[in-house]
Amino acid sequence: MPKPPGPPGWPIIGNVFDNPPSQKHKTFREWGMQYGPVLRYRLLTEDIIVLNNREAAYELLEKRSLTTQDRPSQVMCGELMSWNHGIALSPAGHRHRTYRKLVNSVLSANATKSLWPVQERAARMFVQELFNKCSTISNKNMAEYEFLELLRRSVGMNVAGIIFGSELAPEDSDGHGMTEKDVDEYIHAADVAHSLFGKALAPFAYMVDWLPWLKYVPESFPFAGFKREARHAREDLIKLTMDPFNKTLQRITSGSSQNCYVDLCLLDNPNPTPEVLNNIAWTAMSAYTGGSDTTIGVVTSFFLAASLHPEAQKLAHLELDQVIGAGRMPLLSDRAQLPYVSAFVQECLRTCPAVPVGVAHRAMKDEVINGYLVSKGSTIIANIWGILHDSSIYSAPFTFNPSRFLPSIGTPTNSNVCGLSEPSIGNIPFGFGRRICPGMHLADSGIWIYVACVLWAFEIRPKDIASNDDMRRAWDDAKFSEGALLHPLPFKVQIIPRLNAADIQVQSNK
Ligand code: HEM
Repeated sequence: MPKPPGPPGWPIIGNVFDNPPSQKHKTFREWGMQYGPVLRYRLLTEDIIVLNNREAAYELLEKRSLTTQDRPSQVMCGELMSWNHGIALSPAGHRHRTYRKLVNSVLSANATKSLWPVQERAARMFVQELFNKCSTISNKNMAEYEFLELLRRSVGMNVAGIIFGSELAPEDSDGHGMTEKDVDEYIHAADVAHSLFGKALAPFAYMVDWLPWLKYVPESFPFAGFKREARHAREDLIKLTMDPFNKTLQRITSGSSQNCYVDLCLLDNPNPTPEVLNNIAWTAMSAYTGGSDTTIGVVTSFFLAASLHPEAQKLAHLELDQVIGAGRMPLLSDRAQLPYVSAFVQECLRTCPAVPVGVAHRAMKDEVINGYLVSKGSTIIANIWGILHDSSIYSAPFTFNPSRFLPSIGTPTNSNVCGLSEPSIGNIPFGFGRRICPGMHLADSGIWIYVACVLWAFEIRPKDIASNDDMRRAWDDAKFSEGALLHPLPFKVQIIPRLNAADIQVQSNK
């Protein structure tokens, strides 16, 4: 049986020189147009299968999830740096199943509703901080500043709060719970660990990924710098995992409980063994590192999209004014009444999915798809970005147009919105099968409430761009990150309050 077609490679090394070092999603989409929705390339002896449409991704990764749920082995990142102990790189098997049971019980669609108030409070505080920042700039109606630092801290605090508890301990609390300083240090340490993870995750990023026996070389050997690097990264990762967990455990033991991931896990496991405690600690770390940068990436994309699409923003404002009004901020329970705002969020996730080529799966046995053989051991990559830019599903896929998700009769508050009734993006940004993102419900509500509250309170304008043509060009030419996570590179906007200070102050204190 033939293997899927793909770019011709060299003998022995295969497509090592074709393997895109960055913006893989774009190269994969181009290859897809040339070779079809299921294609293959080869790195040394390893087959990489790329899926470029939703049918192929569902067929291989959802329907046959039992045998495509494994992860390719990553010697440096997984074994030596210990990321195998987190959920995302944990091989298929007992440990991964146990982890998923823990996270699914607390982060299911239903269970996450209990965390909505925490997310709503975080979004309200972010709006207040944004407003305060605008007010410190001399001409508040034309405030311009880089909002990204504020957003990073707000989302970091929010996700850490959802996992370890959002009510912070006083600085002199002697380790009983996380203090504000602890959370700031945690956010910073997680950033460092995550960027090392991103670097080591690239296929064959280190020599030891090509020649696995090198992992047995003693650290003192010449050229074994990677072993020292791995040891430092491993020690930091274990500290990142255990320090906040132990502080949270101390808080719980001292009788103070909160509505957060660790507390809820322990409620479900009232007499935890050391193994269960260890599992909770590693899943908590995985949830933070999996959930913070991805959420930040999408909300950042929202700021860029809103600033360059004033017509779309105007329709969102209109809907918010009619349904919510100036008297209160939006809540997650308002979602069904705000279809245009929800379509806006979907369009941000469609155009800028935070994990553009997902996380690689591995075939655990031979599979056949579209008449091609995917042999056991192949790496399988779903090109999420490519699937969400499939022009047979989404007309003008590079155009930002929230109305594509709305019916042609418009919305209850605006019958003039000309919808295209295109299919919803569903869970595609969050991956597939037994590996689908366990935080997707939390991410979905978290992103929605940030977007709805920011749109309610502010108008976002691009800086130094006035004409519609220039805005279109700026959107087409926007620069994005190069690594495994997709987010726009820093850009400047003007953030203009739509309401007066008293309104925002009162609402954000509720
Ligand atoms: C916009 C936000 C997010 C996006 C786009 C996103 C996307 C993804 C994707 C594509 C995967 C890989 C799925 C696969 O292998 O098929 C994944 C895995 C994962 N995500 Fe998310 N994610 C987001 C937010 C979150 C949040 C908020 C959390 C936790 C609170 C989280 C925790 C995880 C974990 C632990 C995994 C590994 C799952 C496994 O291997 O079993 N993510 N995510």
